[in-house]
Amino acid sequence: MEQEPVNVSEFQKLAKQILPKMYYDFITGGADDEYTLRENIEAFRRITFRPRVLVDVSRINLSTTILGHKISVPIMLAPTARHKIAHPEGEVATARAAAACNTIMVLSFTSNCTLEEVASSCDAVRFFQLYVLKRRDVSAHLVQRAESNGYKAIVLTADRPRLGQREADIKNRLLLPKVKIYEGLISTKSHSDIGWLKSVTNLPILIKGVITAEDAIKAVEVGVDGIIVSNHGARQLDYVPATIFALEEVVKSVGNKVPVLFDGGIRRGTDVFKAIALGAQAVLVGRPVLYGLAVKGEHGIRRVIEMLRDELELTMALSGCCSTKEITRSHIQTQHERLK
Ligand code: FNR
Repeated sequence: MEQEPVNVSEFQKLAKQILPKMYYDFITGGADDEYTLRENIEAFRRITFRPRVLVDVSRINLSTTILGHKISVPIMLAPTARHKIAHPEGEVATARAAAACNTIMVLSFTSNCTLEEVASSCDAVRFFQLYVLKRRDVSAHLVQRAESNGYKAIVLTADRPRLGQREADIKNRLLLPKVKIYEGLISTKSHSDIGWLKSVTNLPILIKGVITAEDAIKAVEVGVDGIIVSNHGARQLDYVPATIFALEEVVKSVGNKVPVLFDGGIRRGTDVFKAIALGAQAVLVGRPVLYGLAVKGEHGIRRVIEMLRDELELTMALSGCCSTKEITRSHIQTQHERLK
């Protein structure tokens, strides 16, 4: 492809040409039959718009506020592992892109760059993602490093007590540089230690990986400050629903008690609009960021976020919404509702 990519899937095609197959497959793949992987994308196609046209849309405001931090677009960077497989600058390039787009980056527990390197490279608002660890002393140490390096929240990923099976990685005999200190640390306990975490940090805690009302209610009861509806990009349990169809259940069960964020399958500005219409305050993107990073480093990620932003802005204008607050459930219709 000689021309500049004009959308996220074109970035994906370029990334496929550039990356070693083993790494491209690692980034792109999902668990087992990859049913949920396909669904995460396809489900968005079963939601259509109910636009309003009798609205003055001369000014569109995309900004929103997440845990008190104002960001210029409701699109954040999801935590994804090992950015150096995509680009030698790794998470430092990602953080700079987040800063340039005035949005939030969530640094993965399994990052190639250290918390400190990322913190000193830019002034982006950063959150730090943690898994539930067997050793609380290690969690406490990481949380303390996050706090002292200016990270603004802890994102506790709860849907990875064990690693999902990704067959492409087995076939490719995927060899990734090991992140040694983390080996054997992930806890298989189902409870998420939120209460304990709250006792060792004043940072707000978001729980990531919730897709049912039952878990959402439990999480609010133990005092989380926000929920990220996510199925880990369909890399853990196959045959869970597309996250976009789990979102409303979680939002309804939580009420207005804590903000609900969303990730999984966002590839278009129209997808962002649909997630907001179903109650998400903002979305996170995983793979698109890695495609941008692989193709053009920091600049590639900026382009990916800008393209999604521009598509969202146009969608809002054409739907009659001047701000993200004006995007409501009545601006969309699911296939199920259409067939009633
Ligand atoms: C992930 N994800 C993830 N999540 C997390 O909490 N910690 C992590 O280290 C990782 N690592 C990771 C690596 C790769 C290669 C991918 C693709 C994903 C999941 C990620 O945060 C997010 O939930 C999904 O990527 C969202 O789906 P999309 O945007 O990739 O479709």
